[in-house]
Amino acid sequence: MGAARKCLLIATCLFAASAVAAPSSPLITNIPGRTSISLNGTWRAIVDPYETGTSMRLYENAKSKTPRNLLEYDFDTAGTLNVPGDWNSQRAELFFYEGSVWYRKSFSYHKRDRSRVFVYFGAANYKASVYLNAQKLGDHEGGFTPFDFEVTDQIREGDNFLVVEVNNQRKPENVPGPMTDFWNYGGLTRDVSLIELPEIFIQDYWVQLAKGSLNEIDGWVKLDGASAPQQVTLEIPAAGIKQQITSDGKGYAHFRFTAKLDLWSPENPKLYQVMLSAGGDSLRDEIGFRSVEARGSKILLNGRPILLRGISLHEEAAFRGGKAFSEEDDQTLLGWAQELGCNFVRLVHYPHNEKMIRLADRLGLMVWEEIPVYWATAWETPETLQNAKQQLSDVIARDHNRAAVVLWSVANETPLEPARLVFLKSLIERARMLDNTRLISAALNHFERPAPNTIALTDPLADSLDVVGLNEYLGWYGKERPEDCDHMQWILPNEKPLIVSEFGGGALSGDHGDSDTRWTEEYQANLYEHQLSMLKRIPSLAGLSPWVLMDFYSPRRLLPGVQDYRNRKGLVSDRGERKQAFHVLKRFYGDMKESQAEK
Ligand code: GCU
Repeated sequence: MGAARKCLLIATCLFAASAVAAPSSPLITNIPGRTSISLNGTWRAIVDPYETGTSMRLYENAKSKTPRNLLEYDFDTAGTLNVPGDWNSQRAELFFYEGSVWYRKSFSYHKRDRSRVFVYFGAANYKASVYLNAQKLGDHEGGFTPFDFEVTDQIREGDNFLVVEVNNQRKPENVPGPMTDFWNYGGLTRDVSLIELPEIFIQDYWVQLAKGSLNEIDGWVKLDGASAPQQVTLEIPAAGIKQQITSDGKGYAHFRFTAKLDLWSPENPKLYQVMLSAGGDSLRDEIGFRSVEARGSKILLNGRPILLRGISLHEEAAFRGGKAFSEEDDQTLLGWAQELGCNFVRLVHYPHNEKMIRLADRLGLMVWEEIPVYWATAWETPETLQNAKQQLSDVIARDHNRAAVVLWSVANETPLEPARLVFLKSLIERARMLDNTRLISAALNHFERPAPNTIALTDPLADSLDVVGLNEYLGWYGKERPEDCDHMQWILPNEKPLIVSEFGGGALSGDHGDSDTRWTEEYQANLYEHQLSMLKRIPSLAGLSPWVLMDFYSPRRLLPGVQDYRNRKGLVSDRGERKQAFHVLKRFYGDMKESQAEK
């Protein structure tokens, strides 16, 4: 299949995916590079535990016309919630709340000729129903990926009101399913904005190195609103590049050319300013160029073997709790990862906010991105598969120009069922079709014990992955003690790179005692010592992302005075205290970096 035909298929697939599952508009990428009006701030909010809001037509944002008129809601006298932000950490009475909340934002708008307007959501957990001026725009499902609706015809000159019902109820057919070890934060958790665009605009584009190449840029531009061929200009001034391409009748343009580039890497996170213009639209982006591949049990970055010194982290804000959404929140978390000596982060178990990915690009941190196919999932429900594919397509659409992103993970710790294998293979196929330049992985945790002190990873899904992710909790869950790691032999698919995507144990910051006592910092540090010396003996080890950077909220962690609804496996407490194990891992990564540099 010719390159141009393949890329057309990718763009169409990214485009089609949204049309099938959620009737939102085609996903507009690089929102930071667009002309936008923020709708962030204080919104009126009505908590609707019995979901009566739709039948009460809350989307009409009505007011009582006469004293006799019966109206049993009023946004103007309702409480408020901040957007972006989850509702759980904003109001104590909503900490455990799972259900519907109706948000309303009133705003004034001045219409401009020959321009189109979209309302864009960075994310809303879990299901959002969106109305503008009492007209339904559509629904979106999935709490961690962006969506937008065109409102050119619905938006008015002057006063407007946007009403969004957000419902975070957990359901078996959802993605993620109903049981998670992370908080089910509800709300408009990321930025909301109006995007103003010309009639023909650049909806999406791909500007990256061709698979396996260090000097060939292979990409495309997808225009929206074009019904005739358009002139497209691509410029990378710092690399002396200026390309003119003509799109086809559908607004699609493909390009491939050689370029002499300073490649992106953790040591040199070089980003180039890239400028695109077509059909009266123009935008800029900061893009890095690098190649990543798996060869045998090695991961190669720009053709050279690299060890991924990583850490797993949730998108939860330090100090204040709640969903992380700001540059500052993200800087705190990634700053701690850098302090550990990381060149890699596993962002779990769902796509984090776009700012986090762009920050990783600038800081030189390679990224594992994951969709929330987590634990038990409705493998045989077609809508669930479609939803998972939708989330995968949308995160790839949002982040495919980020050099930092090197891995797409399609699942975490999923049960060994035949339907699960079919489901996940279909996701892997979709990921490969959408992006053949990055590595595909999943976090596996199915083992057998063929002999004493021997563990074999026995998950058939490993055959379909480029990189095998392994979650193991020796020394914490199960009968082994940390010291038993010293004698443990692993049987692993040695012809593939292995990332130990999780290991760890809990500790309450400031709790001290002997290394045999659970919840002490000494126990956790001791566990890290033994785990790390075991893992470095594994020949196919290509990376690590221990569990976990920071203590985080989980509704499954009930131990009073220790957990208090927090998973305590962090190396840093939620108040920023570094536990002893933080320093154990930091030392280990320091040595790893040194030995890698010597090679
Ligand atoms: C699992 C899972 C995590 C969880 C962790 C734990 O492996 O992937 O989401 O928090 O173990 O038990 O702490």
